[in-house]
Amino acid sequence: MTEPKPYSPGLEGVIAAETSLSFLDTEKEEIVIRGYDLLELIRSKGYGDVVGLLLEGELPMPERLQAIEREMTQAEIPTAVYDILRLLPASMHAMDRLRTAVSALAGFDPEANSTDPNSERRRGPKVIGQIAQIVANLHHIAVGEKPEKFDPRYTLAENFLRVLVRRSVSPAEVRAFEQSLIAYSEHELPNSTFAARVVASTLSDLYGALTAAVASLKGPLHGGANEAVMYMLLEAQTPAGLEALIRRKLAQKERIMGFGHRVYMRKMDPRAQLLKEVLRSLVEASGKGHEYVEMCQLGEDLMRTEKGLYPNLDYYAAPVYYLLGIPIELYTPIFFAARSVGLIAHVIEQHAENRLYRPRVSYKGPRGKKI
Ligand code: CMC
Repeated sequence: MTEPKPYSPGLEGVIAAETSLSFLDTEKEEIVIRGYDLLELIRSKGYGDVVGLLLEGELPMPERLQAIEREMTQAEIPTAVYDILRLLPASMHAMDRLRTAVSALAGFDPEANSTDPNSERRRGPKVIGQIAQIVANLHHIAVGEKPEKFDPRYTLAENFLRVLVRRSVSPAEVRAFEQSLIAYSEHELPNSTFAARVVASTLSDLYGALTAAVASLKGPLHGGANEAVMYMLLEAQTPAGLEALIRRKLAQKERIMGFGHRVYMRKMDPRAQLLKEVLRSLVEASGKGHEYVEMCQLGEDLMRTEKGLYPNLDYYAAPVYYLLGIPIELYTPIFFAARSVGLIAHVIEQHAENRLYRPRVSYKGPRGKKI
């Protein structure tokens, strides 16, 4: 056994996994995804390409890409999973409903308990498609509507948006949504990915790891920030309102959602910069939502001067989803659906080269007490 290393609260700066999937190169301000720059992938590739890249190691050739899209969009949802969702109170947080559904999916996968990386890789696109379809229908089920199936004529990204908003969608809207999915697809070792790897390291299964990741991602310090950002923008209503709100929160030592990041803390999250461009293009294409561009810019400037903090991806994803007409309770579930590919890739990697996670503590309680 090796000597314990010094305690690092929140495991800050600790290297806790070896991976070939992604790396946040803060020096070069680049997010590396299997050798590619994430921003380039967002600009020029589709979500299906990124699924192939993360699960199979290379960008897929056209035929393989089509097959991946088919596997994702034709994935059936067991009726029992929708029945379970119908039994849950609509007041339950959408991430809690999603957590239950992801856990229930295991019951209908004959290979659910296999931790063979080849089996997990093979099942990956189907699970991603199922999660996207469940998220797209989560709100409809909660309000008593029938769930809708994905249509294999469209890509996963287009299906996802169509079913979420149940109206015809423009190519600009589909592209904005797809770019957000790629931006969320993989990001090294955030809390939810770590949670998934910790669970997988006991040789527990994919669904267990994914279920733990949903629970982790729900928190407002992590994925829950995107919906919290939107509530803040709606409360503020105007740029002046946002300035007053941020100043009041800061005076009360409250955190401003959508700002700061453990790894980027004093730099802009490159994904936020890109989503800001996506927001602008969406506003230009639709001719509405200029006030959100203005408000977000004001918040960004104010936080930089007041706190030296920069926006993260969640800050700009929130108004993009709002302008697409997506119910706010689904913002964090969408983050999870988009991230499911990264999570599955990490579980595969963990199972391929496993060592049980079992750190130590720095004990600060009493000793020597007598009964
Ligand atoms: N608003 C106000 N102050 C902040 C914020 C914020 N959003 N973020 C950090 N700080 C301050 C914090 O108060 C602390 O100040 P001091 O040293 O004076 O006490 C200092 O910055 C360091 O903060 P920390 O909490 O020790 O840093 P951390 O690395 O543990 O926190 C974070 C990272 C993401 C939890 C934090 O920045 C935060 O709470 N942000 C708001 C929530 C958010 O947007 N989360 C999404 C993260 S990115 C995408 C994702 O993972 O989902």
